[in-house]
Amino acid sequence: MSAEPVIEARALRKSFPARGGALKAVDGIDLAIQAGEVLGLVGESGSGKTTAGMTLLQLHEPTSGEILFQGIGSLKGANRRTLVAFRRQAQIVFQNPYEALNPRETVEQALREPLIIHFPGDKDAQREKMLRAMERAGLIPAETYLSRYPHQLSGGQLQRVAIARAIALEPRFLVADEPVSMLDVSIRAGILNLIRRFASELKMAVLYISHDLSTMRHVCSTIAVMYLGRIVEEGPAEQILDAPLHPYAQALVAAVPMMGGRGKRPRVQLAGAIPNAAELPPGCRFHPRCPKAFARCREAEPQLRSIGETRRVACHLYD
Ligand SMILES: Nc1ncnc2c1ncn2[C@@H]1O[C@H](COP(=O)(O)OP(=O)(O)OP(=O)(O)O)[C@@H](O)[C@H]1O
Ligand code: SF4
Ligand SMILES: [Mg+2]
Repeated sequence: MSAEPVIEARALRKSFPARGGALKAVDGIDLAIQAGEVLGLVGESGSGKTTAGMTLLQLHEPTSGEILFQGIGSLKGANRRTLVAFRRQAQIVFQNPYEALNPRETVEQALREPLIIHFPGDKDAQREKMLRAMERAGLIPAETYLSRYPHQLSGGQLQRVAIARAIALEPRFLVADEPVSMLDVSIRAGILNLIRRFASELKMAVLYISHDLSTMRHVCSTIAVMYLGRIVEEGPAEQILDAPLHPYAQALVAAVPMMGGRGKRPRVQLAGAIPNAAELPPGCRFHPRCPKAFARCREAEPQLRSIGETRRVACHLYD
């Protein structure tokens, strides 16, 4: 890794109040995303992916830990002005484009909103940025969409509008949280291509959140596998997909049908369901479901450690 990352999290935690204590949705994660990189965050439902994304964006206040943003520094205790500067550069695309857009607003109204806040009074600049963002999001010719309402657009077009709104301010950090999982399979690749191009051509740092590993090879440069609030494995996308090290990552990869990966696919079955994050198992939090668990796994929590130059894994098998 050469340059300073666009965004970096250090020991980031986010807990929610729960009966009898705290639900540790994000329980101490470290990650860094460079300009031009797509980091895929993968894990089962409830593993804390969305909470991690929202906390990185300061849409949730971190319980502890630190977030650093290039050009700004630490966001801990940041004042209002700093947060406004950060928000302009850090945006999110949600899973459900039907919920993300106001049904009573035209595409133009929806897209102008963030531009009016950040470029007040300058209508020409607003229009230029709006049209450019729409073209980058594949809404071509952009003018033909401006007066339309959400109900006049398909799901794919709506998601492109939501994407155009997110990139209109030319953010340096973009979170895409399951951006295609509500869309028809036939249009998913087009949207995922956009996300990849935002990183490669516009040099954004992208956090691509998905429970679906099969989309990750095409989109991500790096993958982080999350389980119950922790990153259990991280490394270059093709290495994680072709030769996962952590038993949880192995089970996720094994569950993907016909992934076309090289090498021998590990045969690991994932037993049972993900436990509630309010009742974390002791030791390795994956041990109740892990086919390779041994005595130590029930007692000591494995730490994320480096394996070679590019990979990290949290499992006692590699201690
Ligand atoms: N606002 C909240 N208040 C209380 N608990 C929350 C809140 N948001 C998330 N949680 C809990 O935190 C844990 C992680 O949830 P999160 O939505 O981050 O998971 P996820 O990996 O995004 O799952 P999914 O794949 O279903 O979107 C879950 O146990 C969830 O119930
Ligand atoms: S530490 Fe033990 S229980 Fe946890 S993943 Fe590794 S082998 Fe399985
Ligand atoms: Mg989620």
